[in-house]
Amino acid sequence: MMPYAHITGWGMAVPERVLTNLDLAAMIETDNEWIVSRTGISERRIAADGETSASLAAEAALKALEVARLKPANLDLIIVSTSSPEYIFPATACLVQDQIGATKAGAFDLSAACTGFIFALNMATQAIRAGSIHNALVIGSETLSRIVNWQDRGTCILFGDGAGAFVLQASEEPGGLISAVMRSDGSGGELLIIPGGGSRYPASEKTVREGLHYIQMNGREVFRFATRVMTQATEEALEKAKLKIEDVKLLIPHQANQRIIETAARNLEIPMERVVLNVGRYGNTSTASIPIATCEAIQDGRLTPGDRLVFVGFGAGLTWGAAVAIWTGSFPTKRRVRPARYRLLARLRSLLLRLVRRLEGLIWGNG
Ligand code: COA
Repeated sequence: MMPYAHITGWGMAVPERVLTNLDLAAMIETDNEWIVSRTGISERRIAADGETSASLAAEAALKALEVARLKPANLDLIIVSTSSPEYIFPATACLVQDQIGATKAGAFDLSAACTGFIFALNMATQAIRAGSIHNALVIGSETLSRIVNWQDRGTCILFGDGAGAFVLQASEEPGGLISAVMRSDGSGGELLIIPGGGSRYPASEKTVREGLHYIQMNGREVFRFATRVMTQATEEALEKAKLKIEDVKLLIPHQANQRIIETAARNLEIPMERVVLNVGRYGNTSTASIPIATCEAIQDGRLTPGDRLVFVGFGAGLTWGAAVAIWTGSFPTKRRVRPARYRLLARLRSLLLRLVRRLEGLIWGNG
């Protein structure tokens, strides 16, 4: 029988530093009222100097593993969805694999912007359902504050930093992620883009001077696209799962803009009490927003095992998608795991591996 992929662990990590709309108004020509009325955002988190997409991802991941009571060494797969990776390569997922000591996991990054977490969730689910792996870690992590143009009031007011993670585990019990849709339309690629730093416009003095390494966006077009596809994707995913919107306990949408979410909820005819909304406190954390919103919904006691929920997102690409899940909660059986200990062990292991590599280089030569 095909195993099911259950969400058995969850965790989030956000930087401590809060940047309010008032702080922004002191930096650029904007005001709190404008931002709140157009977006619903009041504040966002900004990564400190030492914090990166990998460090936030690792923190969220260890919390998720603690909830799932799963040792990092038992992970088969790590997918990090991010639009602000640490490097073009190596993958941020490999840095996380090293930082948490997931010694047997394959790790790669997935690039689908704000829809990335849904795509990653579906990829990990399919790997579990096919029977090729048992335990997967799916992370959405962003430090968008590093790639936003702080002079551009049309974009810098929107984004924030943070990470969220899910552990997915195989089980014969029906449940977990039961349907998903993934869509894209590259003809709208230029509507939300970082043009510089890739192979088309490699980083140069000119690309930096022209600000091509920053997020560029056509806000109105993205707004129109978003309200349309959120409804469409949710309906398609529900149809695949043979469910109706009335069956859904919680809709967990990508947190980009309160008005987009409210419009989608109205079109879907789901009351806002059944929609998770926290964009006001974190801004748009891109691919991290859905797992962060999920963690907060759990914290607030809004999900119990057996509940049906829908994740829905949209973003650059253009990409959009939705997934339907039956909430499981953590498997109750295993002993506690201690994340801090694994982090320390992972650090020692990483140092040892680097040392061995250096010694081998001395013995065998570098050429
Ligand atoms: N503060 C004050 N005024 C601002 C401003 C700011 N931060 N940003 C833009 N304005 C001004 C504009 O200059 C414009 O003034 P003008 O009419 O004198 O030219 C006016 O406000 C309206 O600008 P516009 O861009 O049409 O605003 P909007 O109502 O479309 O709202 C967004 C802008 C960005 C909030 C909105 O388009 C949006 O949320 N789009 C979706 C973006 C998104 O979700 N992206 C992420 C996808 S994953």
